[in-house]
Amino acid sequence: MAKTKTVYVCNSCGNDSPKWQGKCPVCGEWNTYVEEIISKDNPAKNSLHLFETSKAKPLLLKDVETGEEPRIDLHDGELNRVLGGGLVPGSLVLIGGEPGIGKSTLVLQTVLGLKNIKTLYVSGEESARQLKLRADRINSNSENCYIVCETNLEQVFVHIRNLNPDFVIIDSIQTIFTDVVESSPGSVSQVRECSAAILKFAKETSTPVVLIGHINKEGSIAGPKVLEHIVDTVLQFEGDQHYMYRILRSIKNRFGSTAELGIYEMRQNGLREVSNPSELLLTQNHEGLSGVSIAAAIEGIRPFLIETQSLVSTAAYGTPQRSSTGFDLRRMNMLLAVLEKRVGFKLVQKDVFLNIAGGLKVNDPGMDLSVISAVLSSSLDISIEKHVCMTGEVGLSGEIRPVNRIEQRILEAEKLGFSKILLPRNNLKGFTSKVNIEIVQVRKVEEAFRQLFG
Ligand code: TYD
Ligand code: MG
Repeated sequence: MAKTKTVYVCNSCGNDSPKWQGKCPVCGEWNTYVEEIISKDNPAKNSLHLFETSKAKPLLLKDVETGEEPRIDLHDGELNRVLGGGLVPGSLVLIGGEPGIGKSTLVLQTVLGLKNIKTLYVSGEESARQLKLRADRINSNSENCYIVCETNLEQVFVHIRNLNPDFVIIDSIQTIFTDVVESSPGSVSQVRECSAAILKFAKETSTPVVLIGHINKEGSIAGPKVLEHIVDTVLQFEGDQHYMYRILRSIKNRFGSTAELGIYEMRQNGLREVSNPSELLLTQNHEGLSGVSIAAAIEGIRPFLIETQSLVSTAAYGTPQRSSTGFDLRRMNMLLAVLEKRVGFKLVQKDVFLNIAGGLKVNDPGMDLSVISAVLSSSLDISIEKHVCMTGEVGLSGEIRPVNRIEQRILEAEKLGFSKILLPRNNLKGFTSKVNIEIVQVRKVEEAFRQLFG
């Protein structure tokens, strides 16, 4: 029986200590230490020898060949774009997301679409039958997709050696374990050792690997932070379970920009790419309805027009309610304070509800003007004209501040047939395109309201 010993490992930075500690002395995080069993006879370092091949030689940087990084086309416009133009051979990609959001569906659908690439799908969560059922649902099949239900890393490498795949999927990294570490699958040291061994395999054989990762209740990827440091790309798949839209966001990317964003729609038969989000988000005809305004927003680097809805009603009980879906509640409260102070609207005894259509979460500061306008429209019970949209950040003194990528916002609004756009003054520097939409520049919220409500 190997002698065992326990250590406490920090979930956040991977530091270990013989004693439990409340605060990690290395990264300063609280309550991150978890107990782990390590075996003395079997030091964890062994795992790094799992994929021992030739030793690398130091090279002169100037002699390193560059050229365009070759990319594997994944036949999925959204995924290709989020990855920075396709999958880079030898890269390690981590896809994180809440349970049931569609991570396995996205990955399975993608590999089934790659007819000429031999893929190995390692599933530690579902049986081959379940995967087949999902594939049937997606209604896609491939001659080149192999499935193995395995959770032992050493066995996974045996399958890889036998099959020699061009692309490997691990669903999920938290279910995989290696014999060299004694703690249970999903623990800090298991995740760290397994992903380090997989990284070594990916780099040395130039095989791209996609890891699927769970996220914990705080919304970050479960396991040690080192996991995110190890991999080349971290993608987050998010969305509201009750809505059909899913957003694929790049959080880290060594081969492309992190500003990219992919939008999907979950259907009965798998995920469908949404190449023009505005058309989906603006399907409702809101003519004559008060409390609705359209924002020309940017998420990632894509412009889209999105409906902001608000309802202002008299508070029935003492403290008025403030509730917001898809928009930061603190920011909404700040905007309400601006409304109160600058425009003199008494919102103290009013309940205010705010909702961004489609279940999307939008962080763009350019949404401010439309939030404020929707609230005012509901409060006055006057609707905003149907073909008007707006963008602008609202400052504390009620001034409307410039936003980024104004050109893209204007062009998107024009493309969707809007006739008028309200935007911040002094935001049009360098904008020379001729557009078929009336541009109204506003400096303060009062001016914007005069434009909207007369
Ligand atoms: P799944 O890929 O299993 O999620 P994850 O791997 O992130 O846990 O997706 C699960 C959900 O997606 C499930 O609740 C059903 C839904 N779904 C569809 O709506 N349509 C489909 O075609 C598929 C395959 C799943
Ligand atoms: Mg899954």
